[in-house]
Amino acid sequence: MRKPIIAGNWKMNKLAADGARFVMALRDEVPEGSKVDTVICASFIHLPFLTEAARDTPIRIGAQNMHYEKSGAFTGEVSPEMLENILVDYVILGHSERRQFFHEDDELINKKMKAAFENDLLPIVCVGESLEQRENNETNQFVRNQVKAAFEGIREGDAKKAVVAYEPIWAIGTGKTASSEDANEVCQTIRETLRELYSDAVADEVRIQYGGSVKPENIEELLAQSDIDGALVGGASMEQESFLKLLEAGA
Ligand code: G3P
Repeated sequence: MRKPIIAGNWKMNKLAADGARFVMALRDEVPEGSKVDTVICASFIHLPFLTEAARDTPIRIGAQNMHYEKSGAFTGEVSPEMLENILVDYVILGHSERRQFFHEDDELINKKMKAAFENDLLPIVCVGESLEQRENNETNQFVRNQVKAAFEGIREGDAKKAVVAYEPIWAIGTGKTASSEDANEVCQTIRETLRELYSDAVADEVRIQYGGSVKPENIEELLAQSDIDGALVGGASMEQESFLKLLEAGA
């Protein structure tokens, strides 16, 4: 049985004090032994405050990006080691907003995957098709290729710890959600790709999230699907009340 994982992706929102208050308030709501893994992914500037607020709780904190080099002359970048050093556990890699607005490609994302594992960070690697690709029936092939590229050269022992987030680009922040069946179909494709690349053990262990306009009203149906193990949530993760409802649905 895979443990559900609900991750909030705050994107470039909230100020540091608001973020810390949010996590402090969450402390009472996420008990030790919780049935769902709870992750908050915030911008770099929040992270030291959030890891402090989450200390000694099961709440996990994630970054939304990082560089793949250990250190050096990369002005404006943040290294995996810096994240690990402030007790960050997860890192979102290859979000479509980074692919689209910051020109990240599969090769770069693969380098970041490797760097994450080398520094004991757990990647939440995002894949997903555009509306045009969906309309042209290219979704499954496109997503398969993204998964293969992301996991290229990743060892089996590491691969099984990864989280894959299926986020159809056309469903992000638009209020449009993929139907649960369509989302599950692509998540099955992702799992079968991992089975081909590795083994049954990896395919059965890797958690696959759906992301794209997830909210309290649709999460239960999504989580009821055979291959959806959680959600990566933007808008509905920003308010305490709706985020708690999402966690309840996952538990
Ligand atoms: O990473 C989460 C995401 O891109 C979905 O955003 O606002 O549609 O839940 P949203």
